[in-house]
Amino acid sequence: MNILLIGSGGREHAIAVKIAHSAHCSKLYIAPGNAGTANVGENVDLDSMDFEAVGRFVIDHRVEMVVVGPEAPLVAGLADHFAETPVLSHVKVIGPQRQGAMLEGSKDYAKAFMMRHKIPTAQYRTFTPDTLSDGQTFLESLQPPYVLKADGLAAGKGVLIIDTLDEAKQQLAEMLDGKFGSASASVVVEEYLSGIELSVFILTDGSHYLMLPSAKDYKRIGEGDTGLNTGGMGSVSPVPFADKEFMKKVEDRIVKPTVRGLRDEKIPYKGFLFIGLMNCNGDPYVIEYNVRMGDPETESVFPRLKSDVVDLFVHTAEGSLDQCSLTVDSRTAACVMMVAGGYPGSYAKGLPIDLGTDADDVQIFHCGTRRDADGQLLTNGGRVLCATALAPSLPEALLKSYNRVHSIVWDNCYLRRDIGQDLLKLMQ
Ligand code: AMP
Ligand code: GLY
Repeated sequence: MNILLIGSGGREHAIAVKIAHSAHCSKLYIAPGNAGTANVGENVDLDSMDFEAVGRFVIDHRVEMVVVGPEAPLVAGLADHFAETPVLSHVKVIGPQRQGAMLEGSKDYAKAFMMRHKIPTAQYRTFTPDTLSDGQTFLESLQPPYVLKADGLAAGKGVLIIDTLDEAKQQLAEMLDGKFGSASASVVVEEYLSGIELSVFILTDGSHYLMLPSAKDYKRIGEGDTGLNTGGMGSVSPVPFADKEFMKKVEDRIVKPTVRGLRDEKIPYKGFLFIGLMNCNGDPYVIEYNVRMGDPETESVFPRLKSDVVDLFVHTAEGSLDQCSLTVDSRTAACVMMVAGGYPGSYAKGLPIDLGTDADDVQIFHCGTRRDADGQLLTNGGRVLCATALAPSLPEALLKSYNRVHSIVWDNCYLRRDIGQDLLKLMQ
């Protein structure tokens, strides 16, 4: 079948590689893609928020499956548009409709869902401009640090973790006054969870699910998890502390009630669900849901998938995921991200990249790259590219991945040298 993949990052490059390898894939289009996805399919210049244009492309190119990478088109209703348009309703869309996508699109909706289904998460209350003073009183009942979350999508910037009560009260007032635009017209105030974070992913057809390998990402720009938040500076899969016992707790206490909750509430959901978790002394708590795969977690999770992903997607769309099982490479994957100097602040684009020398069992995934008219590879974003190595152990995977990235150069590139080091310390 012809398949359209929506997105342009390293996540989409990693997904594109697996789709292109599938026996079911005749032709893969990526909208808009990057210089890496152009090596495994055809990039197309389509705006995924223009649903009419996406629909026309799908009909004109006889596309039978649309796989959605990022959350924005899902929250805006791309899957609903396909379901509700007669000439498109036969197309298999991997990604939830708007109601399911609210699990990421509204923190308050997600928290209320977790409460209804007794899914462990931080205690919380939601406030609006009318209830600001109640919010400030609620803050007084909590211990520092204080966690404030804009209800809506705020480009990954809507969560504030604040050390003092006065500052938290002040920030709550500013958020409700439009600090993050309409995204913070409501604000979730919640208890701080202390522990180690990890990312768990499922693929679900709305009734059944498959658990994908766990992963850990590294969000801060600086080594030792310091400095500004980024889209992600690297990832590792699997997570050593996410052993069988811990993952059984995750499945029983979180995954099963989540999927059951979606089914019981008749919320159609066909796609990936990313559960951001905190491991608090061996017990998992949900920090957030995302209705897509993580980036850069996908760049370490997908290379480990041995199953035919398009086959899994067909069963997802048809509601028969119970007939599938997942085969996973037992090796560890380590992904190291290379970014433009200055990121996540301002940075240059259009710098020529020297990709260095290929190495066995190391894949390069492009994030922000493009080619000029002469075919020269150029930087085209903050996160530029990453290298994922597969090896029998985490230290070996990290070594291979770092060896590979050290052969890649462009002007003023930057990377963190401590990806995975926290996990190695924990394992000692
Ligand atoms: P979110 O956008 O919900 O993923 O939040 C961004 C980051 O803030 C998370 O990845 C966590 O590191 C942190 N965070 C969010 N909620 C909490 C919480 N209740 N306790 C501690 N850290 C949190
Ligand atoms: N790596 C975190 C995210 O994709 O949101």
